[in-house]
Amino acid sequence: MFENKILVSASILGCDLANIEGELKRLEKANADFVHFDVMDGVFVNNISFGLPVLKAIKPKTDLPFDVHLMITEPEKYIAEFARVGADIITFHLEATNDIKACIDLCKKHGCKVGISIKPDTPASEVFPYLEDIDMVLVMTVEPGFGGQGFLPFTLEKIKEVRQKALDMGLNLDIQVDGGIDDQTAREVKANGANILVAGTYLFKAKDMKKAVKLLK
Ligand code: DX5
Ligand code: ZN
Repeated sequence: MFENKILVSASILGCDLANIEGELKRLEKANADFVHFDVMDGVFVNNISFGLPVLKAIKPKTDLPFDVHLMITEPEKYIAEFARVGADIITFHLEATNDIKACIDLCKKHGCKVGISIKPDTPASEVFPYLEDIDMVLVMTVEPGFGGQGFLPFTLEKIKEVRQKALDMGLNLDIQVDGGIDDQTAREVKANGANILVAGTYLFKAKDMKKAVKLLK
């Protein structure tokens, strides 16, 4: 999708949610490439974040594309709606649905790029059957559900496996990583083949967000 350029997707889960519009402007000024929108349903993960009405409300506030990360069960029920309110990329969890093909087809039918996310304990090989049909694999580098967690180094091997498989298949696949990404871990995940880096805590805690984005790239 993005010719494996190194891109930064800023997770707003940990931003000043009482001032989202201002935070989106900060992201634009800092040259972030996407807004990463973490949807949590309290079932697939033990946390509840935000959903359709919030995305609908903030979409017109920025030109940045929305990279929607669905940490919800039965994502097939909501993909059309998220596309309608402004998702540009929709990533659902392999572990959250019994009908992966339907989820892929729904994303495409509604004009979104499609990603599949795998939790840390899900083997990389489980996503291999779908690589030809999707734009992106999100290799979670923390257990989904909360921002500000510590990076899990054992996930580096999985990034490498997905990248190698994509190369073997001649696919120009984007590999996204998410959780505990900062200027240190960014080096490691890129060295193993990741090219889209999600960061929340690192960016919103940075004194100089523009510099922080640059350091990730
Ligand atoms: C966690 C989410 C992440 C999180 C960002 O389930 O998917 O996107 O908000 O994580 P940090 O704050 O570690 O960058
Ligand atoms: Zn996320």
